[in-house]
Amino acid sequence: ARSPVVLGIESSCDETGAGLVRDGRLLGHAVASSMDEHARFGGVVPEIAARAHVHAAAPVVRAALDDAGLAMSDIDAVAVTTGPGLSGALQVGVAAAKGIAYSLGVPLYGVHHLAGHVAADTLEHGPLPNPCMVLIVSGGHTSLLLVRDLARDPIVHLGDTLDDAAGECFDKVARVFGLPYPGGPAVDRAAREGDPRAVPLPRPLTGPRDDPYAFSFSGLKTAAARWAEQHRQAGRPLPVADGAASLQEAVADVLTRKAVRACADHGVGTLVVVGGVAANSRVRALARERCDAAGIELRVPPLRLCTDNGAMIAAVGDLLVRAGAEPAPLDVSVDPSAPL
Ligand code: KG4
Ligand code: ZN
Repeated sequence: ARSPVVLGIESSCDETGAGLVRDGRLLGHAVASSMDEHARFGGVVPEIAARAHVHAAAPVVRAALDDAGLAMSDIDAVAVTTGPGLSGALQVGVAAAKGIAYSLGVPLYGVHHLAGHVAADTLEHGPLPNPCMVLIVSGGHTSLLLVRDLARDPIVHLGDTLDDAAGECFDKVARVFGLPYPGGPAVDRAAREGDPRAVPLPRPLTGPRDDPYAFSFSGLKTAAARWAEQHRQAGRPLPVADGAASLQEAVADVLTRKAVRACADHGVGTLVVVGGVAANSRVRALARERCDAAGIELRVPPLRLCTDNGAMIAAVGDLLVRAGAEPAPLDVSVDPSAPL
């Protein structure tokens, strides 16, 4: 008998994603984003995101099936993000997943969004070693996780941001710099022409007495904003490229320093960097440099699997199915503030 085909659906924020995975391999996927509709508000508007998911859910599932060359009837299980995320947005994906699972008579699995980000890497680089250290950096999360077996063991949460997420820091500072939303990619582009040493920015929570695995980015954001304000008050043009390069350097420095330290402290030989901010070119380069120096294997999924997508949810579903995990009941609810 062939292994089951798992459909994964993601709708926790502004991306509607669907993906199909069998035996740890990506068969096809599709993503629709409502990012453009939020741009003029400078951030994701929950109500707009939920409506966009209603609009996109069925076509995105269709597109993922087409991408895989499969039919609806080929689906053997459905996995869906139940949280954390925006409540209304999550409900659309969960409702769609229930409809599909119920009509096909196949099991439904609820998936934690962060487990999805972790599993994204398996679609490119194969099963994760046990244990591995995972740095999740996105618009909503900045976490260091000790992962053993995604399908069986709970993820051990080592540290988190005390305030803003790394992506949020990029997005907010980009706004102050007059760069477009979403700020992360815009900062990355602007930074290419800049000097990373031009603006002295703090490296929050890296002191000897600080929590080694906790992050804080609001002070960095404030420092960058103050620098921009000083130029404005003096009537000088803002050297945006220098600001962007310096901000990116500070964020990459803090993230990679703590992640490599966590690996050393826990005797872990593999670091996986996932989430939207893993797309950042400086975060990638510095992680590579420091992991090489420390003898740590670095795994970063390709960009298209780093940002929110359905394939990563299908990847977790596939692990759950193969581990014989208990499916979710058809009345399963969303859990917008799901803990790890
Ligand atoms: O994982 P993701 O798509 O959504 C969640 O937050 O779950 O991550 C989006 C975040 C945004 O804050 C965006 O600005 C950031 O990832 N991002 C980047 C880059 N590409 C996306 N940040 C820095 N550099 C990038 N190249
Ligand atoms: Zn995400």
